Amino acid sequence: MNVKLSNGREIPVEMHKIRIVQKTQLVPVDERLKAIEEGGYNTFALRTRDIFIDMLTDSGTNAMSDNQLAAMMVSDDAYAGSESFYKLASAIKDVLGFKYVLPVHQGRAAEHLLAKVFIKPGDVIPMNYHFTTTKAHFELAGAKVLEIFRDLALTTQSTEPFKGNLDIQKFRDVIKKYGAKKIPFIRMEATTNLLGGQPFSIQNLKEVKQVASEHKIPLVYDGSLISENAYFVKQREKGYENKTIQEIINDMMSVVDIFYLSGRKSTCVRGGFIATNNKEYFELIKPWLPVYEGFLTYGGMSTHEIEAMAVGLREMTEIDVAGSAAEFVKYFAERLIENKIPVVTPPGGLACHVDAKLFLPHLPQSQYPAGALAAAIYITSGVRSMERGTISMDRDQDGNEVYSDLELARLAVPRRTYTMSHIEYVVDRIKWLHQHRDKVKGLKFVEEPPVLRFFFGKLEALDNWGAKLAEAFKKEFGPNY
Ligand code: F0G
Repeated sequence: MNVKLSNGREIPVEMHKIRIVQKTQLVPVDERLKAIEEGGYNTFALRTRDIFIDMLTDSGTNAMSDNQLAAMMVSDDAYAGSESFYKLASAIKDVLGFKYVLPVHQGRAAEHLLAKVFIKPGDVIPMNYHFTTTKAHFELAGAKVLEIFRDLALTTQSTEPFKGNLDIQKFRDVIKKYGAKKIPFIRMEATTNLLGGQPFSIQNLKEVKQVASEHKIPLVYDGSLISENAYFVKQREKGYENKTIQEIINDMMSVVDIFYLSGRKSTCVRGGFIATNNKEYFELIKPWLPVYEGFLTYGGMSTHEIEAMAVGLREMTEIDVAGSAAEFVKYFAERLIENKIPVVTPPGGLACHVDAKLFLPHLPQSQYPAGALAAAIYITSGVRSMERGTISMDRDQDGNEVYSDLELARLAVPRRTYTMSHIEYVVDRIKWLHQHRDKVKGLKFVEEPPVLRFFFGKLEALDNWGAKLAEAFKKEFGPNY
């Protein structure tokens, strides 16, 4: 919930109390420099002991509710026929309206199964934007991913409420060019992760469905961030102001053929599932579930997590849960903007995204500005963010760099995990870094994996800039921070 203070500022107020806590520590800047150097300037290589505030991702790092934890204690571990599964299936029916459920260990496993069952080499998959694991699975199955967003989606500083919308004309053109037979499905990603957590409107979703149905193309919905997309629809789409999150979800689901999600985000648990009302699709996927994931009633998830997911799904329809990350992201972005830091606007669903091209205008994309910025933020603050730019793209088949549309350092806001003073601290250190941004230089690969290179790649700071930045930091704050 937001409250207006007497000084006029509006702040997000947590509608929960925190009764279980986990210790964290801030190691001094010299130790942070050592940790990032050893990790090849890749924030994925850092260990928790070296991290003060972990904003790498909101995935699997959210605070769970007391009811979720309580549900975990009563799970049924039966290999087949687990009652926990039936609780999840009934939550999926109630919240999303789907009859058939295939649990998987996490979102990318759902993508793997969809690719395995529906994609043939030479197919094309249109979507509003890709996610890294989605693209990897669909391409490994031989498809080409076509991102058909509107041009304005790439303007980072914008007031456009629905940058996640799909361009309907481009969709028609794709069908004309490739033919519907080459398009096994169209994918809409709720609150497009790599565009900076930007939602699509229900109107756009329905237009997509209209065109897809004309050509009998199924609509696949990635709902990993469904409650956030619904929250933004309530805030930004005309006619939805007075609808509940559940009513908005119902409206969205009325046009969906196949739904999948990573439960690690909106539902605050580790797991995922595919759901549909189409028996034929269900039967096509079902035989592969035990091969790759597990039996139909657990699919690679622990039964504890299945119980917690059943509760989390219902809880994400509460307004204060659906908006818990979004309102913190908004506050975070506004505080950075006040300090002249270029961030993605309007603020999105899962994270505050700093525009590294604007923050570090002296770095060419070939020197990975978003990766350099993520490393620099860590050195100056102990805060771990994630590179979402060219390092997150893999090279093409000829070994050429594929430059990312956007170069972003993503500071994720796990739901209900951090507090206002954490946000204020991060804002302050990024402000200092911005004033010393000329010290940040580029990166170059020293070890480069062939697939999803951002996970394990190792890089080096050009001109040893990390050490120089740490020296400047110590001059200002001393050696202990
Ligand atoms: N789809 C979307 C939109 C996602 O954001 C993610 C994961 C996945 C699919 C894959 O799900 O991790 O459970 O296998 N996003 C995480 C992130 C990794 O950090 O944004 P998964």
